[in-house]
Amino acid sequence: MKFFIDTANLEEIQAAYDLGVLDGVTTNPSLMAKEGIAGEENVMAHYKAICDIVDDKVSAEIISTTYEKMIEEGERLAAIDPKIVLKLPMIKDGVKAIRYFSNKGIRTNCTLIFSAGQALLAAKAGATYVSPFLGRLDDISMSGVDLIADIKTIFDNYDLGTEILCASIRHPMHLLDCAKLGAEVSTSPLKVFLQLLNHPLTDSGLEKFLTDHAKVNAEVAQEA
Ligand code: E4P
Repeated sequence: MKFFIDTANLEEIQAAYDLGVLDGVTTNPSLMAKEGIAGEENVMAHYKAICDIVDDKVSAEIISTTYEKMIEEGERLAAIDPKIVLKLPMIKDGVKAIRYFSNKGIRTNCTLIFSAGQALLAAKAGATYVSPFLGRLDDISMSGVDLIADIKTIFDNYDLGTEILCASIRHPMHLLDCAKLGAEVSTSPLKVFLQLLNHPLTDSGLEKFLTDHAKVNAEVAQEA
């Protein structure tokens, strides 16, 4: 499974990259706003700064909602760096724009996917990734994991080539459930990366190893 980080915070992206497990980045307008990034020039510069940290696959979200404007904005975003993946919403003009960019060999990520039908449509349009939002479905008492399973079955049935990018991941179990289903990508906040590290038996086991090591070495030093 590829690990993307879901943030526009440069320090968090660097931290995940330094961990040596990062395959890409997803951002969205809310995450950019959280970092106080406003104005097209600053937005472009911020995407470039993200591209300079990671090896590839930086999702930059198109704000426009009409086909013509989406194409113009997408062309500008794609010109920032070859690492850019255009992120487009699951709306009619978004699907048309995905087809346009797909025909041009520009990678796309169709966002705000909440049903298997939406995922199938985006895949048919040539999306590189579809982003089903697990946490937001769970928030309204619908199963995000069940949606991933449905999309995986459909994509496998037809060998569609579009990758499932599990988004709106809130905790490690979300990520692991998606991994068990064979979803190709997850995008998570840094917190989830760090939570994956944790197990109380690891902590107590390491403490015991280090205590035993220190004890025997202190005895040897005393005898010398
Ligand atoms: C996906 O690319 C989105 O940026 C993101 O995962 C949304 O997550 P949220 O529901 O935690 O805002």
